[in-house]
Amino acid sequence: MQIQWYPGHMAKARRMLEENLKLIDVVVEIVDARAPVASRNPDFDGLFANKERVILLNKSDLADQVATDRWQAEYARRGFSGISFVSTKTGKRKQAVSLIEQACRERVERMRLKGVTKVIRAIVVGIPNVGKSTFINCIAGVSRAQVGDKPGVTKGKQWVKISPYLELLDTPGLLWPKLESQACARHLAYIGSIKDDIMDVERLATQLMQELSVLCPEALTNRYAYVKADMPASEFLPAVCKSRGFLLPGGQIDTERAARIVLDEFRAGKIARVTLELPGDEEKLYAEEE
Ligand code: G4P
Repeated sequence: MQIQWYPGHMAKARRMLEENLKLIDVVVEIVDARAPVASRNPDFDGLFANKERVILLNKSDLADQVATDRWQAEYARRGFSGISFVSTKTGKRKQAVSLIEQACRERVERMRLKGVTKVIRAIVVGIPNVGKSTFINCIAGVSRAQVGDKPGVTKGKQWVKISPYLELLDTPGLLWPKLESQACARHLAYIGSIKDDIMDVERLATQLMQELSVLCPEALTNRYAYVKADMPASEFLPAVCKSRGFLLPGGQIDTERAARIVLDEFRAGKIARVTLELPGDEEKLYAEEE
């Protein structure tokens, strides 16, 4: 179930997160590699300021590799560890553990020099659907993470021992996206982090196709034979209908079905590996207000 954020809800989630942060050394913030701007809320930079940070560019199997490399370099420039990751791939546990350990290496070393054996405590945070539970399952090795979204973190804290020096809170912290920007909200809807049953799917799919016609015109036209990258946006969905034979009884074209197919195929990475946002796009994206 997707959470509809409203101020009371956000305040509660924030309170719970702040409470849990007292116990935490490392914050593993998961973002969607296809939309690293929209899937991060910059308001949280202050909240996590005194913690070691790892930013995981998850679902990088669906994103453009060159863009993901650029984001990793950008995070390094900003002083975070930014790591490209695919939580659904098997055999990634070792990499996941070592990237958290590396983020706290200096702190652990300092403690060791003082003769203290420090156990590092980590939390996984992120907005809905970025892969928090999948990552916890990947690192914990069993299906410990709860399915479904809960604001903040549940009261009864459970720690999963990951290595002799590392423990992970087994429930992810849920953050809310920065929805004031129309462009960010649209990108979150494309990638499925905002439910599209409350949206006009035809409009959304048309806007997505417009963006794809600039980002990856060939992939778009290869996938849907009658689509041309330079056709008017209003003709995109009719062209998908023609490509796939989506007709309603009576011979009318079924543009709603076409819209759902385009969104589903984009989310599954069937159109192309696409990154919607590059380093430096923040200002432009945040400027598009509701
Ligand atoms: P959340 O806790 O942050 O809300 O996200 P969750 O782990 O539930 O993951 C959301 C969806 O993203 C799941 O798909 C999950 O399988 C998928 N996912 C997570 N990590 C990756 C990744 O690295 N690559 C890809 N391609 N997908 C990833 P779902 O369709 O909602 O569920 P399911 O049918 O796969 O179980």
